[in-house]
Amino acid sequence: MSDKLIIFDTTLRDGEQSPGASMTKDEKLRIARQLERLRVDVIEAGFAASSNGDFEAVKAIADHIKESTVCSLARANDRDISRAAEALKGAARSRIHTFIATSALHMEKKLRMTPDQVFEQAKLSVRFARNLTDDIEFSPEDGYRSDPDFLCRVLEAVIAEGATTINIPDTVGYAIPELYGNFIRHLRERIPNADKAVWSVHCHNDLGMAVANSLAGVKIGGARQIECTINGLGERAGNCSLEEVVMAVKTRRDYFGLEIGVDPSQIVPASRLVSQTTGFVVQPNKAVVGANAFAHASGIHQDGVLKARDTYEIMRAEDVGWTANKIVLGKLSGRNAFKQRLQELGIELDSEAEINAAFAKFKELADRKSDIFDEDILALVMDEAVTH
Ligand code: KIV
Ligand code: ZN
Repeated sequence: MSDKLIIFDTTLRDGEQSPGASMTKDEKLRIARQLERLRVDVIEAGFAASSNGDFEAVKAIADHIKESTVCSLARANDRDISRAAEALKGAARSRIHTFIATSALHMEKKLRMTPDQVFEQAKLSVRFARNLTDDIEFSPEDGYRSDPDFLCRVLEAVIAEGATTINIPDTVGYAIPELYGNFIRHLRERIPNADKAVWSVHCHNDLGMAVANSLAGVKIGGARQIECTINGLGERAGNCSLEEVVMAVKTRRDYFGLEIGVDPSQIVPASRLVSQTTGFVVQPNKAVVGANAFAHASGIHQDGVLKARDTYEIMRAEDVGWTANKIVLGKLSGRNAFKQRLQELGIELDSEAEINAAFAKFKELADRKSDIFDEDILALVMDEAVTH
């Protein structure tokens, strides 16, 4: 089994489903560029068939992103899948992610379909997608609450039709780590062609266990892809948070023994950009990216850290992109210090002219306000940031 763990970021699709988090095409493209700098393996850019706006956003991201695979969600029908393929045409590498619900509850009450109809539709949709791409992900929505016998039947069929990734969503965040890990392990053991696909975990955080469940899916279940979002953004209580799951696997490499391609130094800039764009504030005590994640307040801890950082730190703040920020920006600051802070904040301006314009705005602000915080700079330059 591979020792590479694929990081599939769905901030721009499942994350955006968070009420109040919808983003414009330009905002999504800006975040996609930061995700590429973060070196995530797959960027789920949106749900192309859901609206013209989402189609255009997926297309723009597919046309610009070169290093990560760009993916679009599609319901299990020919129209959605064609629309996804159309939006992804310009991508260097693309994936179609198709899904249909498989739990008895969802099939009966939501889809009003019989299990046999769902089985046929799943199979035919993957067969249809196979004519358009060779990178197909299939998700049985509400998979964790589905009948395992039925799930095995569906998954075996879609793998035979050419699905290359099988993702098991805990759509409503109902799972418990050990049970979710065993659920995936049993599916993989029972399905004869299971090894032809990469297995993936997709956990929601309704009981606060999305990260723990995802890690159990990897460790116990043998999954090799984790679906996650920056800052854990997502519907209701959110999705598995990228920064937590990535740093857990990296920090406890002794336990997981897996490789991740993500560049951790881009985590904090990504977190800030997503927070600033959506207006979703990161709680101060949030692991890895919260303002207090590396702050030591008690005298005993401060003393310990001054003597040896390992006493109270299991990760280095600078490794995940925190900067010491010893330079306080104000009206006496120069253009170079300003430019450097932009880089630290993950902001990319298109040209020297844009940097000059932003610097002029900064100087105006600094005349009125003695201390300029990172939030001020982010607000000031958001309109200048690269959008095409
Ligand atoms: O939570 C879920 O079930 C999903 C699927 C569409 C993958 O987001
Ligand atoms: Zn989801």
